[in-house]
Amino acid sequence: MKSICNKFWNESFIDPFEKTDQQNGMPAPTGELSFDAVNLIDLPDPRNLKFNSFNLTDFIENRRTIRKYTDKSLPIMELSFLLWATQGLIKNMPDERSLRTVPSAGARHAFETILLINNIEGIKSGLYRYIVSKHKLLSLDFSKEKIEDLISGFRNINLVANSAVTFLWIAVPERMTWKFNARGYRYLLLDAGHICQNLYLAAEAIDCGCCAIGAFDDEEINAILQLNNSGQFLAYAASIGKK
Ligand SMILES: Cc1cc2nc3c(=O)[nH]c(=O)nc-3n(C[C@H](O)[C@H](O)[C@H](O)COP(=O)(O)O)c2cc1C
Repeated sequence: MKSICNKFWNESFIDPFEKTDQQNGMPAPTGELSFDAVNLIDLPDPRNLKFNSFNLTDFIENRRTIRKYTDKSLPIMELSFLLWATQGLIKNMPDERSLRTVPSAGARHAFETILLINNIEGIKSGLYRYIVSKHKLLSLDFSKEKIEDLISGFRNINLVANSAVTFLWIAVPERMTWKFNARGYRYLLLDAGHICQNLYLAAEAIDCGCCAIGAFDDEEINAILQLNNSGQFLAYAASIGKK
């Protein structure tokens, strides 16, 4: 085990002699996977969300991992806010870079967000993809059985099954490796941490609990999400529900 860790670490040092795809003049991978623009689900503007009270110091101090939720649903406005806080687009930049509400190495933003929705007002339970460029949701065609299989791929099945929504962050590594080669894999994981921390703090602001999730069956989940031959994978997840 140790040798693999050391190998990865050592082989992801910055190598001034190894050219990247970017330096070789290859076009940048797209900053968002393609999608069918019909039937996208509108999300309200998160800037219009009214908070009961807002104190960032309290949010930082009181943030705790919470694994048990009430069965109260989240209004769609709150879901919109959580999506914006974790991946919201501020500005597109050349070479498929973008500025978002979270930082990202090289502004590459190598994640797609999949939502497992269980209890959001006005949205049917199921799997959805967040379309960052439009701030809308795309419904994904997954049967009830497939979604149950997906949920059982998590070590803590009840946590995910009883969440109002679970965020799944899918890595698209070529967005990172185009610029950084193997080191891009380190940056992916660092980026994921920023995303989830924003989710924790945003959840505090709307009286929700959040639990970061790293314990899942990679093979099973990647297979269910049909990622196996794409180089993409589930990197990190987090459940959300009302306290
Ligand atoms: C990278 C990472 C992975 C985690 N994975 C899980 C998980 O799979 N299941 C779980 O119940 N908690 C998970 N957690 C939550 C931690 O257990 C939790 O942050 C820790 O116990 C400290 O509690 P606090 O967040 O309230 O400070 C994870 C946290 C991090 C940062």
